[in-house]
Amino acid sequence: MTLKLNNGIEIPQIGAGTWTLRGDIATDNVCMALKAGFRHIDTAQMYENEAEVGQGIINSGVARNEVFLTTKIAPPIMREGEEAVRKSIDESLTKLKTPYIDLMLIHWPVKESVKFTWKIMESYVREGKIRSIGVSNFNPNHLEDLLSYAEIRPVINQIEVHPYMSQEENIAFNRNLGIQIEAWGPFGQGDIDIVGNPTLQSLAKKYQKTISQIVLRWIIQRGLITIPRCKPKHFTENLEVMQFSLTDEDMQLINGLNQNLRSNPRNNPENFPW
Ligand SMILES: NC(=O)c1ccc[n+]([C@@H]2O[C@H](COP(=O)([O-])OP(=O)(O)OC[C@H]3O[C@@H](n4cnc5c(N)ncnc54)[C@H](OP(=O)(O)O)[C@@H]3O)[C@@H](O)[C@H]2O)c1
Repeated sequence: MTLKLNNGIEIPQIGAGTWTLRGDIATDNVCMALKAGFRHIDTAQMYENEAEVGQGIINSGVARNEVFLTTKIAPPIMREGEEAVRKSIDESLTKLKTPYIDLMLIHWPVKESVKFTWKIMESYVREGKIRSIGVSNFNPNHLEDLLSYAEIRPVINQIEVHPYMSQEENIAFNRNLGIQIEAWGPFGQGDIDIVGNPTLQSLAKKYQKTISQIVLRWIIQRGLITIPRCKPKHFTENLEVMQFSLTDEDMQLINGLNQNLRSNPRNNPENFPW
């Protein structure tokens, strides 16, 4: 199942995250994710695994044009200036072993560098080296600023979303601007005890699904894109969330778990730069 971005490009609603995956583990994880049926991979310059992710795509045998590949520009590179940003995009293309990137995001709103970074990203779209551009961890004020000069509207804002951080207002704000939300950290990065929640436990029992599947289904059913990271043993389980649905009442029950709780206070864009 895919969603249409505001530039007409389709994105698979569920993808595989790769944060913390390094070396052969990253290559094998990406290769196995694609073999299991994923067609969307999320990486970032900061994850230091772009070369391995690129190799994993090649090893999978899945054609490049069947995979939606996202990477993100790292804050330290944005701070270095325009030349560093251009060089880093060229390096991402080389490491990922691809003639084009499907989606390039500004990873964090590095205030003084967003404008020139966006302009550079727009120029790569015009050259055909990036198909879509977007942002990550942008609050409404960051987006309003960017939209005052952007010639190309962001297609996506990738933000933290899980049952304890439902982001209702932020999601509505982005939707009004035609910007899709991509949920990172759907399981609270493994740092919040989501599986211990009694409401989610009872829903898992009711639907005969795992708690992880209930969480992912809640995100998918809200019309969001998500990129859970997992070991290969969970690939099929996570993909199967496209095949069942939660009732409106149960969706509301999960909405009610919100505590505006981030997996780490560092992840609050208001606290950036760390
Ligand atoms: N834009 C940003 O600033 C930003 C920030 C953070 C993350 N991200 C992206 O979002 C992706 C996802 O977020 P995340 O990696 O931080 O955390 P996450 O996906 O919330 O959590 C990963 C944890 O969930 C577990 N898990 C996944 N599926 C499971 C299942 N079916 N059953 C049991 N456990 C399961 C994994 O365990 P196992 O490893 O044992 O399977 C792992 O410990 C990242 O990999 C990255 O690509 C973006």
